[in-house]
Amino acid sequence: MAKMKVLVADSIAKEGVAEFGKFPGLELVVKTGLPPADLAAALGDAVGLVVRSATQASRAVIEAGKALKVIGRAGAGVDNIDIAAATERRILVLNTPGGNAEAAAELAVGLMFCLAREIPRADASMKAGAWDKKSFSGTELLGKTLGLVGIGNVGGAVARMARGLGMAVVAFDPYAKPDKTAALGVHLASLDELLAASDFISVHAPRTDETKNLLDAKAFAKMRTGVLLVNCARGGIVVEKDLVAALDAGKVRGAGVDVFDKEPPADWALAKHPKVIATPHLGAGTAEAQVNVSVMIARQMGAYLTRGEAINAVNAVN
Ligand SMILES: NC(=O)c1ccc[n+]([C@@H]2O[C@H](COP(=O)([O-])OP(=O)(O)OC[C@H]3O[C@@H](n4cnc5c(N)ncnc54)[C@H](O)[C@@H]3O)[C@@H](O)[C@H]2O)c1
Repeated sequence: MAKMKVLVADSIAKEGVAEFGKFPGLELVVKTGLPPADLAAALGDAVGLVVRSATQASRAVIEAGKALKVIGRAGAGVDNIDIAAATERRILVLNTPGGNAEAAAELAVGLMFCLAREIPRADASMKAGAWDKKSFSGTELLGKTLGLVGIGNVGGAVARMARGLGMAVVAFDPYAKPDKTAALGVHLASLDELLAASDFISVHAPRTDETKNLLDAKAFAKMRTGVLLVNCARGGIVVEKDLVAALDAGKVRGAGVDVFDKEPPADWALAKHPKVIATPHLGAGTAEAQVNVSVMIARQMGAYLTRGEAINAVNAVN
């Protein structure tokens, strides 16, 4: 019997490739970094497509995949996949919730420490040969209030870490499960309450129509002066030019930013701002997370293609 082809469009960990190998009916074709037109052509008779965040599984790409049955996202965010187009063609979309949550959470907390103590700037001053103790007097996390916008897998892990650090944690999440947040010692609040109460704010919501531009100039005006902001979720949730203005005005003392409107940024004003610690979308960039998500997506796609079993489906196609 002919094997079913699965096209891997963004590189995945070797452990994920090995996991696909446990399904003898599948043949893996790895073609990464293709421009959209070449990707559409490369799909050919592939029944499966694996992406991370770089590849845009646009309507055009999805429609070019005449035999496509499943798109697997080795990661959490599915904003690079046209879900409506996939659903129309009865293509199942799978993601790997939780597989990179610890990695993203640790980066967010790491950025909080870096902001509070200005670790990157202090290091840069040492590299420049200066012994400048006075410029880097920081603040502590202990006893401060952290506001989480979104308390799912990543937000939940950040809450657990922050509680361990002695922070009070409030969260705004219209879909949160109150028993889960209560167990984490997190107080659910409205967005306005969160903005007014938080010394640190960290964004962990998906990019959707609801969250687009959620943190704009009006929201910054409601924040505490001197707040430290972290966004390791998605670009587009925080309005970049409004954040630059809030940093310039001293309303926001510093920001840790891992995700941007355009990646790489079209406008570097935010990433290059002296009060910003910027990272190039590294949230899921740990060895452990890449193994987790690639093994998870291989198992899930194999289960669907060989047994019709849908695990972590983002859409419904029946
Ligand atoms: N920087 C990275 O590399 C990286 C890595 C992992 C995840 N992420 C991103 O982090 C975010 C969270 O990921 P996750 O795995 O925790 O996802 P998740 O689905 O487990 O959690 C998202 C949470 O956001 C909540 N939410 C939805 N709409 C909301 C709204 N309008 N306001 C507030 N909250 C809302 C949901 O109810 C859910 O609890 C996503 O945007 C994901 O793409 C980024």
